[in-house]
Amino acid sequence: MTILVTGSRGRVGTTLISLLHEQGYKVRAASGEPDELVLPDGVPDVKLSLAEPHTFPGALAGVDSVFLYASSSHIEEFIKTANDAGVQHVVLLSSSAVLNPDAKNDPIARQHVEVEDALSSSALPCTFLRPSAFASNTLYWSWPLKNTGTVSLPYPGAHTDAIHESDIAEAAVAVLKDPALRGGAYTLTGAASFTFAEQIDLLARATGRPFTFDAVTPEVWKAEMANHVPASFADGLLAYWRSCDGKPVDLTTGVDELTGHPARGFAVWAAENAAAFIE
Ligand SMILES: NC(=O)c1ccc[n+]([C@@H]2O[C@H](COP(=O)([O-])OP(=O)(O)OC[C@H]3O[C@@H](n4cnc5c(N)ncnc54)[C@H](OP(=O)(O)O)[C@@H]3O)[C@@H](O)[C@H]2O)c1
Repeated sequence: MTILVTGSRGRVGTTLISLLHEQGYKVRAASGEPDELVLPDGVPDVKLSLAEPHTFPGALAGVDSVFLYASSSHIEEFIKTANDAGVQHVVLLSSSAVLNPDAKNDPIARQHVEVEDALSSSALPCTFLRPSAFASNTLYWSWPLKNTGTVSLPYPGAHTDAIHESDIAEAAVAVLKDPALRGGAYTLTGAASFTFAEQIDLLARATGRPFTFDAVTPEVWKAEMANHVPASFADGLLAYWRSCDGKPVDLTTGVDELTGHPARGFAVWAAENAAAFIE
């Protein structure tokens, strides 16, 4: 069985490729920039940009299963090419944001909804993994924490469960391997719900540095980020954080059910990635 992994430079994709390769699966690493990949010995790479349909046939030839990142711009062409190539199963890296009642109007959730809808309407057997916010989102704080010891937070009381990317990759291995798990939609959360302020504290403990945060208004945060985050995306993030303010995340048992172990805690992720927050 040949498994094509898209998003191979991404954290989930990279981990998934290693796990599949270690377990003896034939895996092909697809990326928009295959020259940038660092792969285990023996794993072939292929150029695949989900924004460039001419790259689809070469990447999908001879493939049985696909681990797919959600990109809606050319999803119909992707599905047609996958069908023509004889693909038997697509595992989509979706998002728990699709469960929001207004997901179709949410700039962050919309892409995932569109890809889920297109796959559901197709003849391709598909499985949806719907993780919540990745623990690695905190890497956006690494530069200010490294350089100033503090980070601006418009909603320090916003909750997140910070799922470890290895838990998502292990869940993907499970659904790729076990036909009995195919066809489901699995909402995956981390081990516990924390506020952003508590996450800063956990990063401080993991690094041994006295990290703090500045509570700023949404307008100040947006102005500070203007050179790094497009305005519409910043608005989407602010609306999302506002909706999470003071509201603990509803945790699921999805990781446990698929991987056979509880979700890793954010403290585990922080310990593994402490170096990224230290000068
Ligand atoms: N972050 C979250 O909290 C979250 C939550 C739920 C769902 N998701 C979904 O999960 C997917 C990936 O999440 P992510 O963006 O947070 O992280 P990621 O796993 O690091 O993925 C980054 C992706 O961007 C591409 N890329 C472009 N330039 C890159 C570069 N210089 N280095 C590494 N990758 C580069 C890569 O694709 P190629 O290698 O194929 O070019 C890679 O797949 C997205 O579809 C996202 O919507 C994210």
